[in-house]
Amino acid sequence: MKLGRSKSGSEDQRDSADNAADPTYGARHIAIIMDGNGRWAKRKHLPRAMGHKKGVEAVRQIVRDAGEMGVEALTLYAFSSENWNRPEDEVSDLMGLLRQYIQSDLNEFLENGVRLKVIGNYQALAPDIVSMIDDALRKTASNKKMTVAVALNYGAQDELVRVTQKLAQSVSDGDIKADQITNEHISQRLDTSGLPPLDLLIRTSGELRLSNFLLWQSAYSELYFTDTLWPDFDRKELENALKSFGERDRRYGGR
Ligand code: FPP
Repeated sequence: MKLGRSKSGSEDQRDSADNAADPTYGARHIAIIMDGNGRWAKRKHLPRAMGHKKGVEAVRQIVRDAGEMGVEALTLYAFSSENWNRPEDEVSDLMGLLRQYIQSDLNEFLENGVRLKVIGNYQALAPDIVSMIDDALRKTASNKKMTVAVALNYGAQDELVRVTQKLAQSVSDGDIKADQITNEHISQRLDTSGLPPLDLLIRTSGELRLSNFLLWQSAYSELYFTDTLWPDFDRKELENALKSFGERDRRYGGR
C-alpha cells in the first residue's frame, strides 16, 4: 500500500488486496516500548520478577510473529539508561533474564535468519553479558531475514550526545566542516544506522510518552499506544497496530 496520497475508490480496493498480501502494511521497521510488566504481575498478585519473566516470553513470541509477517527490523526497548535507578534486585533480575534470553534464543535466531543488533552503550553491562552479546552479534551478523535490535543501557539523549561527540571530533580532525553537517551525517552515526527508517513506534500499558526512546528516529514515525500490558501483547495486538498504521496518511510535513 502506498501511504501518503489520496485514493480513489478503485485504489482503495486495490489497497485491500495488497494489504491481504502484506500483513506489515508496508511497515519495514517497528519499535516497541515494552511497558507494564510490573503492573501485569501486581494484578496477578505475583512478584515483579514474574512480570519480567512473562515479558521475555512475549518478546520471544513477537520476534517470531514479526519475522513471519515480514517485518525487516524490530527494535525493542529492553533496558534504558535510566533503568539503573531501579532497586538492585530488580536490575539483577533483568540482567539474569537477558543472560537466559541470549543463551536460550540464539539458536532460534540462527535457524530463522535473524540478525541481532544492540543499540545503547551495552559495554557498560557486566563483562560476561558483554561477551555473550559480542558472540551473538558475531554469529548472527550475516543473517538477512530480519534484524532484532535490542536497546540495552539505551537513552536517546545519550545516543545524541555520543553522535555529537563523534561529529565534534570529525570537525576538529578537519574531516567535516561544521556548517556542512547534514541530517545524513547524524543518521549515519546513530546506533540504529543501517536499519530502515522507523515506521511505527508502539508503546504498551497506556502510558503516553516516549521515555527517551529513539527521539531522532521517530521524527516521522507513526505512534501507536495500547492499554495492553506488555506480557499480554501478542500477534493479534501486533496485527491491530499494523492495521492502524495502514490506515494512517503519512505526509512527512507535506500536504
Ligand atoms: C517495563 O515494565 C519493562 C521493562 C523495564 C523492561 C522490559 C524488559 C523485558 C520485556 C524483559 C527483558 C527483555 C529481554 C529482551 C531479555 P515495568 O517494570 O516498567 O512495568 P510497570 O510500569 O508496570 O511497573
